[in-house]
Amino acid sequence: MRKFLAPGLRPSMVAASSRGITTPSSRVSQAASAIAVKATTQSPSPPTNTDLPTISASPDKVAVGWDTRTWSRFHNIWLRDHCRCPQCFHQITKQRLVNTSEIPPGISPSKVEATENGLLVSWPSSQPHESLYPWSWLRQNSYDPQIPDAKVPPREKILWGSKIMNSVPTVTFEEAMAEDDRGLHKWVSNIHRFGFCFVSGVPPNPEATEKLSQRIGFIRETQYGKFWDFTSDLAKGDTAYTMLALGAHTDNTYFTDPCGLQLFHLLSHTEGSGGSTLLVDGFYVASILKELHPDAYNVLSSTPVPAHAAGELSALYRPSPPGGYPVLSHDPVTGDLSQVRWNNDDRSVMNHLSPQQLEDWYAAIRVWHKLLTSADSEYWVQLGPGTAVIVDNHRVLHGRSAFTGKRRMCGAYIGVDEYRSKLAVLDERFSGKAFTERSVWSPGL
Ligand SMILES: [Fe+2]
Ligand SMILES: [Zn+2]
Repeated sequence: MRKFLAPGLRPSMVAASSRGITTPSSRVSQAASAIAVKATTQSPSPPTNTDLPTISASPDKVAVGWDTRTWSRFHNIWLRDHCRCPQCFHQITKQRLVNTSEIPPGISPSKVEATENGLLVSWPSSQPHESLYPWSWLRQNSYDPQIPDAKVPPREKILWGSKIMNSVPTVTFEEAMAEDDRGLHKWVSNIHRFGFCFVSGVPPNPEATEKLSQRIGFIRETQYGKFWDFTSDLAKGDTAYTMLALGAHTDNTYFTDPCGLQLFHLLSHTEGSGGSTLLVDGFYVASILKELHPDAYNVLSSTPVPAHAAGELSALYRPSPPGGYPVLSHDPVTGDLSQVRWNNDDRSVMNHLSPQQLEDWYAAIRVWHKLLTSADSEYWVQLGPGTAVIVDNHRVLHGRSAFTGKRRMCGAYIGVDEYRSKLAVLDERFSGKAFTERSVWSPGL
């Protein structure tokens, strides 16, 4: 039998483990030789009945060898914590039933075994306990090392500039409202991919538009109300309620959690003109900034910006913490850009920076603004009754040109979590397989 050593495991540790722990016998040696042959192909495939990973236990970890070079090491405490048997994990609610802090710090399996269904671990306890971890789940969740090709790939985003005008993502009202939810899936997928989507053929009234908004999730009530139906009468103390031009901005920079989606629908525009809609892909502009002006990108990624909504005596909004958030926020795990917050009009006093930081900040927003307002970035469109637009407020900035006459606008905010949940659920449902039940091993749980 050939022995493969997991990197970091000394031969003595394996020897010790094979004395102290009942390890798989013939099946593992068969698997090891099968894997040795397969290793020349360089790309390991998921284990099959005759092709099981090699396992090896040390005092504090279990190592799983996917091929001669790729080993994943799992801490015993991690394995015990992630047991998904009915005693340790509620099979319906998908909630942990283990009190993790009660797991003994030096816990070690009494037996580890490679089986067709996964890694079988027996734990010493007064009441014997077995945990079974599917191989694909272990590979997907390998953390030492990460195995990128085993992860569920993130859904693709398409960054766009002004040329998006040639192929604007659109669904019809009929599609979005259809009971089988396929059109709804297309709609939320478009929002994810492009950061916005038009809905055509919407009856030009608030009732239909509200029903459309509710297809995605709960409407988020704010100081502007729940579902808005407004004109330029300054009914609320915000420039949205005027006839002024509005530069590209995201909404709610003064909230701790700005709304996820914004849907708006122009119901009528009479006795005047103007009021084109402006959309700019903040992720596209950020990608250009990062490439051409990395220093400015870093400043916008690291400088918190205070903001406020104070146009009405009854409300005074500031984010928590009050220092605010940077213009560009990133996923702390992947480092990917996750959110753009930008509304120069709502920015509060900048009194928290050193003189040098202050100079760098003004220089950085000058470049940012130049890229945001370039002809290559701006997508202008004249919307009319019947076409609603929905915007991912964490990515796409919106604005409008000044107008004359009377405009009646309606729309709503939808929470980011509601939208992401709807997308995830519809992805599950339309994943290709007949989807009837969420597994305790579903990705991300
Ligand atoms: Fe706005
Ligand atoms: Zn368990």
